[in-house]
Amino acid sequence: MSVLTAASDRSVCAPLPVLGRDVTVPLVTGGEVTYAALDYAASAPALQRVWDDVAAYAPYYGSVHRGAGYLSQLSTDLFENARRTVAEFLDCRADDQLVFTRSTTDSLNLLAAVLPAGCQVFVFETEHHASLLPWQDAEVTYLDAPRTPEQAVATLERALADRDPHGPALVCVTGASNVTGELWPVRELAAAAHAHGARIVLDAAQLAPHHPVSVQDLDVDWVAFSGHKLYAPFGSGVLAGRADWLREARPYLAGGGASRKVTRRADGGVDVEWHESAARHEAGSPNVIGAYSIASACKALTEAGFDTLVARERYLIEKVREGLADVPEVRFLSLFGDDAPRVGVLSFVVEGWNSSHFAAALSAEYGIGVRDGLFCAHPLVRTLLGSDPQTQGECGAPEAAPGEKSLNAIRVSFGAGTPDEHVDRFVAAARELVRDGAKWNYRTEDGRCVPAV
Ligand SMILES: Cc1ncc(COP(=O)(O)O)c(C=O)c1O
Repeated sequence: MSVLTAASDRSVCAPLPVLGRDVTVPLVTGGEVTYAALDYAASAPALQRVWDDVAAYAPYYGSVHRGAGYLSQLSTDLFENARRTVAEFLDCRADDQLVFTRSTTDSLNLLAAVLPAGCQVFVFETEHHASLLPWQDAEVTYLDAPRTPEQAVATLERALADRDPHGPALVCVTGASNVTGELWPVRELAAAAHAHGARIVLDAAQLAPHHPVSVQDLDVDWVAFSGHKLYAPFGSGVLAGRADWLREARPYLAGGGASRKVTRRADGGVDVEWHESAARHEAGSPNVIGAYSIASACKALTEAGFDTLVARERYLIEKVREGLADVPEVRFLSLFGDDAPRVGVLSFVVEGWNSSHFAAALSAEYGIGVRDGLFCAHPLVRTLLGSDPQTQGECGAPEAAPGEKSLNAIRVSFGAGTPDEHVDRFVAAARELVRDGAKWNYRTEDGRCVPAV
C-alpha cells in the first residue's frame, strides 16, 4: 500500500517560492530544460521572501555599530534585531549568546578556539568534516559509527564513563546526517553528555532548514548552522549557546568591534579590553545583509509552519523511495535502517555505475543537479560503502560491476522549495539511466566525470 499523500491533500503544502525556479539549462542531447535543483544539502536556493526582504533593505544599507548617521543606526538595529529573531527561532535560553559567523564550519572552529584548557572532545566518525576536524588541538576521541540510535547513546555513555568527570568535555553531534539524512537522537545524547559533566554542541546545518530546533527542548549547549543551507545564501552562519566559554576565551579574531578599549602602556605595548558580549567574536565589519537574510528565512519558515514543511518533505522522500523501490540496482545508504526518520537527503549507489558518471548524466542529459562523491564525510561514506579508502575510479566505463563495491555515492536532496515535478523527473531519469544507460559519452577531467564533447 502506498504511503504517499497526494500533493493536493491539505496535509501537504505547496513548495515555498524560491529563486531560480524558472531557470533553464542546456542538455548535451539538444534543447533546454528547467533546472531541477536537487542539491539542497550543499546549498539551497534563496527563498523569494528572503530575496525580497534583502532587496527592500538594500537602499538603506549602512555601516553597523559605529556610524552616527541615520542609516547606520537603522542597520545596527536591523543587525541586532536579526540576532534576537534567530535566537527566538532556535528557542535559546535568555542568557545565551548568539554570534554571527560565516558558516557552520566557521561556527564550529570558533567553538574549538574557545575550548577551556584540557577540554576533551567526543565526536562520532560519522560527522561531516566541519564537525569532525576542528578539534585537532584538543584531546579528541573519535567514536565508531553506531548502527542504531540506541547504540549511538550507548557508545557515547561508554566513552564518557571513562573520563575524569571534573575536567571540561564537549560532545559534538549532527542533528541530521548530510549523507543519509537520518535524524540523530540529540536529546538523548545531550542527556548522556550532561549526566557525565560534558557539554554538547549540535551541528544543525542539515537539521535547521528542515526541522524546528529548540535549544531548550533538546537541552544542547550550543547550536551551529549556515545561512546558505537555510535559504539565505548571503555568507553568514550562526553559533548560539552558553556565554561562559565564549566570554572567557580570547577573541576568535582580534580587531575593531571586538575591542572595547585599547590603550598604549608606559612600556610601549598595547592593552586591550575585549567586549564580553557576542561582539567579542565578531571583529571586523559584520555582514549585516547575511544576518538579516538569516532572520528573514527564520521568519518565513516559522510562518510557513514546520509541521507542513516536514509533511511535504516526507511526501517527497516517499516519492523517491517508492519510485525506485523496484529498481534492484539502486541501493540507498543508511546507518539506522531504511525506515529511520530523516530529512530530505538521500544517498545511494547504482550497481554497474560509477557514481560520478551517473550524476554527470543526470545533469547533462536531464538538467538535474545532484551531487556525487564522499560529501565531506569520508569516514562515514566509506563505512557505508564498505570501500577501500585508497582506490579511486575513472568514469566512463561502469566501475562498480555487479557484486563490486562503489567508491563514491550519489546524493539527491531537497527541501521547502522543491516542486513535485523535480522529484518525479529525477525518479524517471534514474530509472531510464539504469534501464537504457547513458545516451552520451563521458570522460574524466580533474577527477570529475564530464560529457566527452
Ligand atoms: C552536517 C553538516 N555540517 C556542517 C557543514 C558545513 O557547512 P558550511 O559549508 O556551510 O560551513 C555541512 C555542509 O554540507 C553539513 O552538511
